[in-house]
Amino acid sequence: TPPISPFAIRFDAEAATLSPEGPTLERRMSDLEGLFADHDAWQAAVADGDPVVYRVQSSPVPEADRELPQSITTIERGTTAGECWMTKGHQHPNHQGEIYLALHGTGGLLMFDGDRVEWLDMTPGTIGYIPPGWAHRSVNVGDEPYSFLAVYPGGAGHDYGWVLEHGMGNRIHRTGDGFALRPYSA
Ligand code: F6R
Ligand code: ZN
Repeated sequence: TPPISPFAIRFDAEAATLSPEGPTLERRMSDLEGLFADHDAWQAAVADGDPVVYRVQSSPVPEADRELPQSITTIERGTTAGECWMTKGHQHPNHQGEIYLALHGTGGLLMFDGDRVEWLDMTPGTIGYIPPGWAHRSVNVGDEPYSFLAVYPGGAGHDYGWVLEHGMGNRIHRTGDGFALRPYSA
């Protein structure tokens, strides 16, 4: 891909939009196979309307080496057998860092390097730093949609298989008065 020319991107934090717009991705429940602990509950949710769990809207900066793309993810509020709705989660194959800026709602950033687990509370204004080599997943732990801006190296890539193989160290469950982190096997 040839480099693109400089241009302005309008970032509307209130509306959680970037313009001009690049590709928008919609992830439905059926796209999250093998990620929730309760497979039967996941399957029932797919059969029952296959809801949109999150959307990712990107600016037109290409995902190519040395470019610096951005996207805004919005995760709906919901649970599957008590587990909070979340992104699939991925590892960057060539271990590059990334930042997330929380915009709306109440979320969290779960990170796992295959050994250590880290959780960052994400409320509007929080920048979560994802160091190279840490797989990352976003979770909506609040009562409304959770949105955040991501800025990442265009050549970082997305390895979703890594998370299917290694998990994310913890699972996030809704409780009576909030949420709880539980070991992955539970
Ligand atoms: C890019 C990045 C985010 C996520 C987005 C959706 O490196 O981390 O833009 O891609 O939040 O999550 P996934 O990709 O896990 O479905
Ligand atoms: Zn990433």
